[in-house]
Amino acid sequence: MAVIVSAGSGKGGTGKSVVVTNLACLLARRGKRVCLVDLDVGGANAHVLFGQFNPAVTLTDFLSRRVTTLEEAAIPFSPLKNLRLIVGTGETLKTSNMPYATKQRLIRHLSKLSDDIVLIDVGAGTSFHALDFFMLGDYQLCVTTPDPTATLDLYRFVKLAVVRKVLSSFVSYDAISGMLAERDFKTIEDIFGLADEAGTESRRKAAKALEGFYPMLIINQAKKGFSVNAKRLEQLMSEYLGVKLEKLGTIPTDPAVEESIRFFMPVCEAAPNSPASKALFSITDKLLERISGEM
Ligand SMILES: Nc1ncnc2c1ncn2[C@@H]1O[C@H](COP(=O)(O)OP(=O)(O)OP(=O)(O)O)[C@@H](O)[C@H]1O
Ligand SMILES: [Mg+2]
Repeated sequence: MAVIVSAGSGKGGTGKSVVVTNLACLLARRGKRVCLVDLDVGGANAHVLFGQFNPAVTLTDFLSRRVTTLEEAAIPFSPLKNLRLIVGTGETLKTSNMPYATKQRLIRHLSKLSDDIVLIDVGAGTSFHALDFFMLGDYQLCVTTPDPTATLDLYRFVKLAVVRKVLSSFVSYDAISGMLAERDFKTIEDIFGLADEAGTESRRKAAKALEGFYPMLIINQAKKGFSVNAKRLEQLMSEYLGVKLEKLGTIPTDPAVEESIRFFMPVCEAAPNSPASKALFSITDKLLERISGEM
């Protein structure tokens, strides 16, 4: 079974797609079979970063059952033999309004993909899709820029994702949206309190829902002399959510990234000696170290 790694951020434009497309290439170059799945519902563009403009098959074909398995929606990325892409689409209402049963089918098929690692590009924002796709991973990458608003958005995103996951362990699916809309759960203890009221079994399920959740932080577009307060973010996550955030690395703002995008190539392929690529190499090593126990 594939190890699923999802990347989210809350705020748009932090660099999720840049990070995920590069990690996909680097992991494939290390001999891992990798499938990059673009689940940025409404704004899918990872395929463009690979120069794939007219993919023969996309996620929409799977969602609308034109193909029966997700495996059939994966297209090989020819220069790298271990890499496949599942191209997202944002153009159909069908995709963005995906019903619950369809989402469950997608999630089931994701874990059945034949690759070693499935990398998921989760779209920006805190839609239920984004939160669920983020939490479905075995591992989570949190991508932020040093910008304080981006860090705050990341915190809010992880908080909502955690709240939704823990709630769904003991509250029926239909009731969750209403509860999230009505109540602001400030800390994870608020939810545990609610679980206590619902009974000991609910409390046990709630605690179990967070087991093994250790999100990893990637700071992107870092500028010299401008440091992100990663410690503060770690503190917030630990204090309010009971979640340990592990820093994976920092990628500098690098003109080579923009240049590589213009050539529709990941920067690690176009400019392997650039500062951004070097940072991405190191992040790949750390990620592999983290997930290798599962493969
Ligand atoms: N390390 C970097 N150095 C320079 N520019 C960067 C870097 N990372 C990202 N960018 C710029 O930021 C833009 C946005 O990156 P990207 O598309 O990966 O963000 P995203 O988080 O996926 O956005 P969205 O939320 O819209 O999906 C890129 O097109 C590129 O111009
Ligand atoms: Mg993106």
